[in-house]
Amino acid sequence: MTEAVERKIAQFILELDDQDAAALYGRLPRGKRLRAKLILKIAGEGIMAVKTAAIVEMIHAASLLHDDVIDDAFVRRGNASLNALFGNKIAIMFGDVLYSKGFYELNGIDREVAKVISNAVIQLSLGERNDVLLSEGFNHDKEKYLKMIYQKTASLMEASAEAAALLAGKPREIYRTYGRNLGMAFQMIDDLLDVTQSVEQLGKPAMHDYEEGKATLPFIYLYEAMTEEERLALSSLHARVLKPEDQQWIASMMQRYGIVEKCFFEARLLIEEAIVLMQDAGEHSLEKIARAMIERSF
Ligand code: IPE
Ligand code: IPE
Ligand code: MG
Ligand code: MG
Ligand code: MG
Repeated sequence: MTEAVERKIAQFILELDDQDAAALYGRLPRGKRLRAKLILKIAGEGIMAVKTAAIVEMIHAASLLHDDVIDDAFVRRGNASLNALFGNKIAIMFGDVLYSKGFYELNGIDREVAKVISNAVIQLSLGERNDVLLSEGFNHDKEKYLKMIYQKTASLMEASAEAAALLAGKPREIYRTYGRNLGMAFQMIDDLLDVTQSVEQLGKPAMHDYEEGKATLPFIYLYEAMTEEERLALSSLHARVLKPEDQQWIASMMQRYGIVEKCFFEARLLIEEAIVLMQDAGEHSLEKIARAMIERSF
């Protein structure tokens, strides 16, 4: 389904007329192309939808290149990340190239679509910054966490769905809400998988968020549930390299307090709301996409 998108991205890269950039792109594993699939499912596979999907995936890839620098993450999509392979400078600069080419290509599509996508990228950047700001201490505030994940992750999925609806002449609000819920649930699950899965399963680092100071939803809920003594122990591990026994202790605490189920339940509520929207709209394949969002293990 996404082969046309792959060809479009390859064409965009070729147009850069730069061997080094082409070589770096060649080193990037593909990823799941979730945002592209979302766009094509909503808007069909016409040229404008394919172009928009290619732009969004290029922007998303750029955000991951920068994200791995920000998060000191050395594994991405099952491979060594570009920052691990070639250093932060290369990863940042290639990220800039992908971002810029994405924005340049936005000129070639509908103005309103371009506005929706580019606004989401502002949100994404603010969200990445807020993620780092929140990680300076142990953030216990769920509202702040929710706003931050909306910005860094849900905004681009929301925009993808809304942009696709615009291209297809479908009611934008419904699809926008659908995409936002998907994105929120997606990041909640991502944060959960960080504590439940291995690096092999994820193709990216595991148990790494808390080491980076990121108190994601599982950690916010765990802290809420803990005794005073356990809280002190958890806080003392914040933003530190975790020994295997620390990781095991966190995992056992998560289990004792039913944190995985609690987070999963919260993500499921958002997905169920999204599913109802699509049932009402008669969009059955979009219901499936929503379900797959939380039933994933990587
Ligand atoms: C990773 O997104 C970044 C998050 C928002 C958690 P994806 O899991 O969609 O990344 P790829 O493109 O499939 O690697
Ligand atoms: C999402 O956050 C990253 C972006 C929106 C760019 P994460 O930092 O959790 O993403 P992963 O886990 O590295 O893919
Ligand atoms: Mg990261
Ligand atoms: Mg990050
Ligand atoms: Mg993550």
